[in-house]
Amino acid sequence: MARPLPSFDPQAAPAEPGPLFVDWLATALDAGVLDPQAFTLSTVDADGMPDARVLVLRDVDAAGTGWNFSAAADSPKGRQLAHHPAAALTVYWPQLGRQVRVRGSVERAADLVAAAEFATRSPAARVGALVGRQSEPLGALEEYDEAVAVARRRLEATPGAVAPGHAVYTLWAHEVEFWQGDAQRRHVRLRYTRTGPVRTPEWSRTLLWP
Ligand SMILES: Cc1cc2nc3c(=O)[nH]c(=O)nc-3n(C[C@H](O)[C@H](O)[C@H](O)COP(=O)(O)O)c2cc1C
Repeated sequence: MARPLPSFDPQAAPAEPGPLFVDWLATALDAGVLDPQAFTLSTVDADGMPDARVLVLRDVDAAGTGWNFSAAADSPKGRQLAHHPAAALTVYWPQLGRQVRVRGSVERAADLVAAAEFATRSPAARVGALVGRQSEPLGALEEYDEAVAVARRRLEATPGAVAPGHAVYTLWAHEVEFWQGDAQRRHVRLRYTRTGPVRTPEWSRTLLWP
């Protein structure tokens, strides 16, 4: 952190976390942060054992209440979310010394929503999803190449094909924390806590000791 970093005035922070996240994301893009929409999704399995992996954030609503991502429902993360529909989402933008942490419950969208989202994905992403079997043991890379070729032919023949189990999830935040690192270790942390219901959220703001 011994480098010039942006300042963050928590007193000037908006009433909801959404506009602040969008502002920080835009700043990350301007600063040349690679993959700024990549985040770590943390879940727990049926034994209560934590798990985490990097995904791409698809969308966040204006208030910063609903955070959308997509995944295969039959992958480990999909099974974990089905069993325990709660998660944490963590973003770190090193060039800016900024972290955002989101915690909340997770809801799977209707299949129609997932199918519409699937159609917006690149052909390569759709082929990958059609191959499926994510995180299963793979005997050899050639097996995967063959499965990709089959999926590619299928997509060419049926452009509207949707991967079975393709799911869109919304993490409904009950807490969103913004962390601004500081070269002098005077880090600034601001936590938003949702006080109202999901559809009509209200937020309280709290400064945290670094
Ligand atoms: C930058 C980056 C972006 C990724 N984006 C996705 C994604 O959007 N969806 C996805 O299923 N996996 C994505 N992955 C792969 C996941 O991290 C993970 O390997 C995969 O989803 C299997 O996770 P699971 O076994 O916990 O279900 C991404 C990985 C990286 C490094």
